[in-house]
Amino acid sequence: MSIQVSDGVFRLDTAESSYWFRTTAFGHLEQLHYGTRLPAGEIESLRHKHELTHGSAVLYDEQADPSYCLEELPLEWSGVGKGDFRVTPIELKLPDGSFTCDFVYDSYRIETGAPKMHTLPQSTGEGAETLIVTLRDKAFAVYLDLLYTVYAEENVIARRAVLRNESEGTLLIKKLMSYSIDLPDRGYTVVTLSGGWIREAQVIERPLKTGAIVNESTSFSQHRNNPALALVSRGATEDTGLVYGFNLVYGGNHQTAAELSPVGLVRITGGINPYCFLWELQPGEVFETPEAVLTVSTRGKNGMSQNFHRFVQKRIVRGDWQTKERPILINNWEANFFQFRQNSLLRLAKRGKRLGCELFVLDDGWFGARNTDSAGLGDYTVNRKKLPEGLEGLGKKVNALGMQFGLWFEPENVNDDSDLYRAHPDWAIVRPNRKPSLGRHQKMLNLTLPAVRDYIVENMTHILDTCPIAYVKWDMNRKVSDFEDGAFLHRYMIGYYEVLTRIFGPRPQILLEGCASGGGRFDLGHLCFAQQIWSSDDTDPIERLKIQGGLSLFYPVSTMGAHVSMAPHQQTLRNTPLFTRFAVAAFGAFGLELDPMDLKPIERKVLTALLSEYRTIRRTCQFGTFSRVETGDPHIVQWQAQTGKQTVVMRCKTLVPAAQPNDLLTVTGLDPDKTYTLRQVKSPLLVGGFGTLLKHILPVKLRAYSHLLLAADKRLKMDDYAESYRASGAQLGTGVRLHRSFIGTGYSDKMHMQGDFSAMLFVITED
Ligand code: DGJ
Repeated sequence: MSIQVSDGVFRLDTAESSYWFRTTAFGHLEQLHYGTRLPAGEIESLRHKHELTHGSAVLYDEQADPSYCLEELPLEWSGVGKGDFRVTPIELKLPDGSFTCDFVYDSYRIETGAPKMHTLPQSTGEGAETLIVTLRDKAFAVYLDLLYTVYAEENVIARRAVLRNESEGTLLIKKLMSYSIDLPDRGYTVVTLSGGWIREAQVIERPLKTGAIVNESTSFSQHRNNPALALVSRGATEDTGLVYGFNLVYGGNHQTAAELSPVGLVRITGGINPYCFLWELQPGEVFETPEAVLTVSTRGKNGMSQNFHRFVQKRIVRGDWQTKERPILINNWEANFFQFRQNSLLRLAKRGKRLGCELFVLDDGWFGARNTDSAGLGDYTVNRKKLPEGLEGLGKKVNALGMQFGLWFEPENVNDDSDLYRAHPDWAIVRPNRKPSLGRHQKMLNLTLPAVRDYIVENMTHILDTCPIAYVKWDMNRKVSDFEDGAFLHRYMIGYYEVLTRIFGPRPQILLEGCASGGGRFDLGHLCFAQQIWSSDDTDPIERLKIQGGLSLFYPVSTMGAHVSMAPHQQTLRNTPLFTRFAVAAFGAFGLELDPMDLKPIERKVLTALLSEYRTIRRTCQFGTFSRVETGDPHIVQWQAQTGKQTVVMRCKTLVPAAQPNDLLTVTGLDPDKTYTLRQVKSPLLVGGFGTLLKHILPVKLRAYSHLLLAADKRLKMDDYAESYRASGAQLGTGVRLHRSFIGTGYSDKMHMQGDFSAMLFVITED
């Protein structure tokens, strides 16, 4: 039993955590403990003591208890106007025209599973238990159900709130968060993923001082601020210390606030962003907030991440692809943009197949007059000039190559220059009295209209059911503008989720990859439908270390689209080694985003070997227990993933110092007493990159920049030294002293030529 209730105390326990609260004498819910798992027992040591109040306190009921002040209590929910001045989870205009509200305990019940939500996606509740605590406003028949679904094995508590208007008047909801929780201050740092286009998910760390840090978005989940947030306690590291994680199963406007109050309590509230939000709730109506998910670990940031990874894999991602390795895909976007024909696509697919790709994805540009990004969006008629045999013909030919076929859509937007817009200008989101603002030359379709939803569902399902499509990329390339209010945006999200449910619910075999100008919509709401999300339009692996590394705090590797592209990279002009591009993308839903013909013949050979290697480590990289390993050097990033008897380690140097010290490679999480074989994956050294060193140091004697060198560079390679050891888990855990890297004094065939942007990949196998 993961939920126990006795004497007004609610004890929620998971394998490694406990979440306890109780009702106070006045009926408020006092938060007692959320953290490490506690044995059942008394709560006296956990109860907030309040014999005296602060001088300026507003007392809740001075006669009944002169020391009871809501501002000073750790609470599970709070209201307005009764003496709690912290960030509130609720702002309601009640039938008397006032915002003062006071929710107190009414009743509770426990249900098996997770009660079904009616408008929004949620985690799958099989095997879980849900506690529903009902609160009632003291003045009006307005009820608030606080739901707690306990995922014992995953160490996650899913929380949400449902407001029921049983009064006789209309309520105006200005703010209704999914949860609120107050924790004792432990010197927290707030960690969020913030950024922008092509630099998504940068880890931002801000110490929480008195006052609030607000992580929010005003245009869906967006590049700027991901909905996830972590609280890292003083001194916690990747592997040790208390860390809390919070996320929302919602991709609309979101807000999570962390506030440290003057009395040393930290309040976290999260849910729909109250920005421009006004929702009328008529008598008899109900409003449900998005589901929020909370986890805590005493095993540091990795512990928190691993809890979320397991939870997302098991409880959020669904359909046939929940545990299936992602196919190695080749996407034609960076190879072609809008310029292609059926034959050129088939040539690209064939080249991809030769390298070992399993899925060919046709990106933007296959429909209507879509030869630039200014036209055609909204139309679903295939462009017969480009694809004379249609999608069906192309799909069949791709299948005949022994590959699956995937297709790009951008269903939520429309170009003015499209048949759809000409026929239905009223379907776009505009304000009648204002000139509309465009994003990437397009307007958004109004998904609150049933006719728009039907149009998208009918057109997409027709294509999906008549062509051999195994994968869909669902793109969304603009932020919102010209909207009515926040309630409209929430209704848009409800419409959007309905469309996804209707299209993909009956087609679980289709692998869906979400995308929004890169990783602009990386959230758990989307992951309930899309099993993976394109992490960023930035495919430079050095940037991806930050992006994928940031995402890994809250999302599993299997959900992050990651591709090998050409260097110098289209986004940064950085020139990175092919091996590094491979090694970083290996920790993702892997693919290629290039035309293999643009690679040197030797690179094609190398990539073919690497893709074949990848098939032997893919399950570990995508579904293994993932950790970020502390290297003590900000310019060395190390990731590892472990499953069964295999561990894969990636170590990347972003900037090397002169006279590099020998690397110390630690592999964490192994059984100290078992014996393992460590093998480094061979990484190629292309001779062209060494300039005049060829003359002085390397064994290959070729004149720099000569014709001979250029010819050799295309076809010949050396291999960097590859290490191998047999050692105990204890030895690997304490650190393998690797061979020296190049320091300018000579060459040995037992050293590494590890410059800036170089990566190493190790496969460790238990005996
Ligand atoms: C933005 C995406 O992030 C790209 O991968 C590509 O699909 C383009 N849109 C196509 O327009």
